[in-house]
Amino acid sequence: MENGKATGTDSLTVTDNRTGQSYDIQITDGTVRAMDFRQMKVDEGDFGLMTYDPGYKNTAHCRSAVGYIDGEQGLLEYRGIPIEQLAENSSYLEVAFLLIYGHLPTEDELDDWLYQITHHTFVHENIKNFMEGFRHDADPMGMLLASVGGLSTFYPEAKGIDDEYQRHVSAVRLIAKVPTLAAFAYRHSLGLPYVYPDNELSYAGNFLSMLFKIAETKYEPDPRIERALDVLFILHADHEQNCSTAAVRNIGSALPDPFTAMAGGIAGLYGPLHGGANIAVVKMLQKIASTDNVPDFLQGVKNGDERLMGFGHRVYKNYDPRAKIIEKHIDEVLEATGKENPLLEVARELEKRALDDEYFTSRKLYPNVDFYSGVIYEALGIPTDMFTVMFAVPRVSGWMAQWMEWMNDPELKIARPRQIYTGPRDVDYVPVNER
Ligand code: CMC
Repeated sequence: MENGKATGTDSLTVTDNRTGQSYDIQITDGTVRAMDFRQMKVDEGDFGLMTYDPGYKNTAHCRSAVGYIDGEQGLLEYRGIPIEQLAENSSYLEVAFLLIYGHLPTEDELDDWLYQITHHTFVHENIKNFMEGFRHDADPMGMLLASVGGLSTFYPEAKGIDDEYQRHVSAVRLIAKVPTLAAFAYRHSLGLPYVYPDNELSYAGNFLSMLFKIAETKYEPDPRIERALDVLFILHADHEQNCSTAAVRNIGSALPDPFTAMAGGIAGLYGPLHGGANIAVVKMLQKIASTDNVPDFLQGVKNGDERLMGFGHRVYKNYDPRAKIIEKHIDEVLEATGKENPLLEVARELEKRALDDEYFTSRKLYPNVDFYSGVIYEALGIPTDMFTVMFAVPRVSGWMAQWMEWMNDPELKIARPRQIYTGPRDVDYVPVNER
């Protein structure tokens, strides 16, 4: 704008009032480059102007064609395809291919992909022994984190990240082995023997078998549960830049093998504000216990004494489309398991009242993916401690897609943020006996 009039130029004119100097900054894709501000100095000795953005609330750290979110509208797309269409028509493994290779596989590509994933599900026996070393009550997320990091030592060739074949086979290994590791972690917590993969089952069916098989010769998953789990995997496969994906890219920028970068993603997902939110939701629903207690709980949230877990999102300022899809599958799963879930009633009452309350609507707080995923996992008989693991298993494909894209990015740079130093300077060391 010049004198309040648009000039049609894709640039920003910034006047540094400290010096009176003006600068033209290029705008590309609605974005300015933070480095363009560095030239703004008060004198030659000045480092130059930096941008400050805790939590990266307004900083794009990469260009990506993997996933698209329109937070205002509540839209999610993988490689341009709406999540609703994928949840309706696709399978998790097809989606994993789509995310990583950027297009839906042809029939031959899909057959080959399924074959490769199915034939990489076993892990080295030493990994199994390594997992046995954990305490009986070890958090399965900690076990998954350690064992995925440990995988890198079994595939040292994965360090050849410039080799396209190595990237591909690492993706196959990770997607194939993560359910095996997750199931081993679960069996470990119960003191049950580990169940080896069954190549005749689907990806979700095999995972259910490794979790729940006891003495039967062949585990036969209920197709409704198998499908619901596959849909949950589709919904959790990618979610563009967030704490864990940014961790994968940050770690990946130092060029380690992808197993190491994925372990970083799992670590990022661990916390209650990200992948651990589904656990926090179920704990919250258990604490509320009955629909009668919902109004008091919501008052507690408004007073700032509670947080409504499973509500709110950094990007979605509307209903998270994944929550809607999950909600549709809940009744089917409960029907298949023949179980009632009293927490579901509490969740639905909570949602109804919160969406009717100006406090929540004015802050654009709507249910996110985690609001109902915990309820569905519970119905599937999965213990609370495993919920975040259930999120991590499918997210590996999204992380791999993001990692591969990053490795091919001509602007790939080692992540090295700046800081505003707030501590003292020139402090003399004081010997211990003089302190
Ligand atoms: N309950 C109550 N108030 C909330 C909540 C909530 N869940 N989320 C945000 N707010 C309030 C917040 O206190 C603030 O109010 P005010 O303007 O009066 O200070 C306002 O809404 C804006 O919140 P914010 O903290 O600026 O939002 P954010 O973008 O920094 O945080 C969030 C996003 C997901 C961390 C947060 O909404 C939250 O803690 N939600 C609960 C945890 C959760 O469900 N996380 C799962 C996210 S989806 C899965 C994933 O991607 O990992």
